[in-house]
Amino acid sequence: MENNIFDISGKNAVVTGGAGVLGGSIAKHLVEQGVNVVVLGRHQENTMAKVEELKQIGKADVIGVVSDVLDTEKLKTAREEIASKWGGIDILINCAGGNVPGATIPDDKTVFDMKIEDFEKVTQINMNGTVYPSLIFGELIAKKGEGSIINISSMASYSAITRVLGYTVAKHGIDGFTQWMAQEMAIKFSEKIRVNAIAPGFFIGNQNRALLINPDGSLTERSKKVIARTPMRRFGDITELNGAVQFLCSKAASFITGAVVPVDGGFSSFSGV
Ligand SMILES: NC(=O)c1ccc[n+]([C@@H]2O[C@H](COP(=O)([O-])OP(=O)(O)OC[C@H]3O[C@@H](n4cnc5c(N)ncnc54)[C@H](O)[C@@H]3O)[C@@H](O)[C@H]2O)c1
Repeated sequence: MENNIFDISGKNAVVTGGAGVLGGSIAKHLVEQGVNVVVLGRHQENTMAKVEELKQIGKADVIGVVSDVLDTEKLKTAREEIASKWGGIDILINCAGGNVPGATIPDDKTVFDMKIEDFEKVTQINMNGTVYPSLIFGELIAKKGEGSIINISSMASYSAITRVLGYTVAKHGIDGFTQWMAQEMAIKFSEKIRVNAIAPGFFIGNQNRALLINPDGSLTERSKKVIARTPMRRFGDITELNGAVQFLCSKAASFITGAVVPVDGGFSSFSGV
């Protein structure tokens, strides 16, 4: 596979939120490509179930770490465990995140009804939950002098999406952090350390299912608006993030850093008219 610029086999990756819908799918693809994966999840049962599932692929080592992306002490302990087992890592995918129900403003309420605590919860998990693992696991990548960090942004950082203020603010923060960390790594450590983000369009996950799909399986009014703004006229399939992830982790993207790559069926580029 020496001439395959997309080959990522033999690398070591940490996927936060690795037991979630998108993180789990990305972790699976990485293992299928021969990448050793740490599934970092918040809950023991889900995390270990995902580890067992990925081990069945039989192509790479898979480790489960139960941790919290907002708990820096636990993250440091996880980093030491991983470093002693594998020596280092090459890839960090920051997939832990998502919306918080209380921070979604219902149609019959306004921004002035939103609880500040809910705003803080959603900005913490998405923004700090990306920054802390990048600082802690990123140090292993900095020591190695080579690697790739991928953050997960959102369509909410391209243009305003109603109801989700905290989520929007946090995902804008992720884009800014991605650019900032990209320059820091390239200037102070190595041009071979790249930091990018992927901005998924609309994929049906656990957190947005109720907003997009009615209990009878039909589309909600909100999801009809999403589809109308998506030139491909459909939601994404979670496996459609895999290509962008692999590309950004591989030599094929050796001159790409600080980018936010939309994987959105055209949503971010279309005015809807
Ligand atoms: N599903 C979509 O359409 C979509 C679109 C754009 C962006 N995203 C983003 O993709 C990412 C993954 O979303 P998903 O749809 O897979 O959601 P998900 O809920 O299935 O996965 C998120 C995972 O993060 C974990 N997590 C949450 N808080 C944590 C914490 N403090 N510490 C450790 N783990 C924690 C959860 O346990 C869960 O396993 C999120 O950042 C989300 O904002 C999703």
